[in-house]
Amino acid sequence: MEGAECLSPATVPHRLLRLQNTTDMNHEPPPFRMKVLGICGSPRGSASRTLRLVQAVLQGAGEAGATTECLDLWMYEIQPCTGCMLCHRMGECVQRDDFMELQRELEDADGVVLGSPVYVDNVTGMMKNFVDRLAGAIHCQLLHGKYGCSVSTSRDSGGDEVVAYLNHVLNLLGAIAVGGVSAAHRSDPDAMGRGEEEARALGRTLAGAIGGTRRFPEQEVLLAEIHEDFRPSYWRSGRMHPTIIITGRSGGGCRGMRRDALLTCTPGNPTEPLIQLQ
Ligand SMILES: Cc1cc2nc3c(=O)[nH]c(=O)nc-3n(C[C@H](O)[C@H](O)[C@H](O)COP(=O)(O)O)c2cc1C
Repeated sequence: MEGAECLSPATVPHRLLRLQNTTDMNHEPPPFRMKVLGICGSPRGSASRTLRLVQAVLQGAGEAGATTECLDLWMYEIQPCTGCMLCHRMGECVQRDDFMELQRELEDADGVVLGSPVYVDNVTGMMKNFVDRLAGAIHCQLLHGKYGCSVSTSRDSGGDEVVAYLNHVLNLLGAIAVGGVSAAHRSDPDAMGRGEEEARALGRTLAGAIGGTRRFPEQEVLLAEIHEDFRPSYWRSGRMHPTIIITGRSGGGCRGMRRDALLTCTPGNPTEPLIQLQ
């Protein structure tokens, strides 16, 4: 994988190390937990080919020890973004529909798989609608320190571009994108079978990245720049503090951001004392 670097087995996974460092020395560290969430933007439900690829990634991640969950966007009521910009300051959307439920699921995951079919050379409207509503999450760097990947299916073409776009969205959210799979099925009867196989391997790569056995140095530089760009937003909103200290948590405790921490922050006051969660 381009930009990926395998660490030697002797290297302690960095996320695990950070977790252990925050744990009381008198107790065994909690078991390393990783949760991978798949989000599919096809409106075709169980008939969706894209859903098959998302599920194959989750299967691969599951084989590597992750717990997995798959969400179909068509099952949720997600209104279009109204452009009010309040989420940039508050980190939460003020519209009352199912979006915040999905944002909380994202927040709770260590890895995220985004999937969309190609619709007129782009993601589906359903997926774009969801991405637009993530503007506040992007400003608050919701997935900072996490990992993701993307998949797409098409009749003929456009899958690679959709994968690239969705991986870019993951980067904007602060996550490292470990790769992608696309399958164009019209003139290739094996495309889906091959795609599912590649997607399972991608799932194992994703789980490896979460566990800290792979590094992505090029993206780490890019993400540091994105993170810096959004610093004024998340400092102003108080929704993310780079030095929040979290203790006593399993895998997810490595996150830079946590819901109860967010609620404790004082919006608009970046000089608030640091938050220490127990
Ligand atoms: C509205 C619409 C637009 C589409 N646009 C394209 C396209 O631009 N290029 C393409 O190759 N396939 C296109 N397709 C075909 C789908 O991308 C393809 O069948 C895909 O596998 C469907 O995914 P799903 O089964 O997950 O819904 C389009 C299909 C629909 C319904």
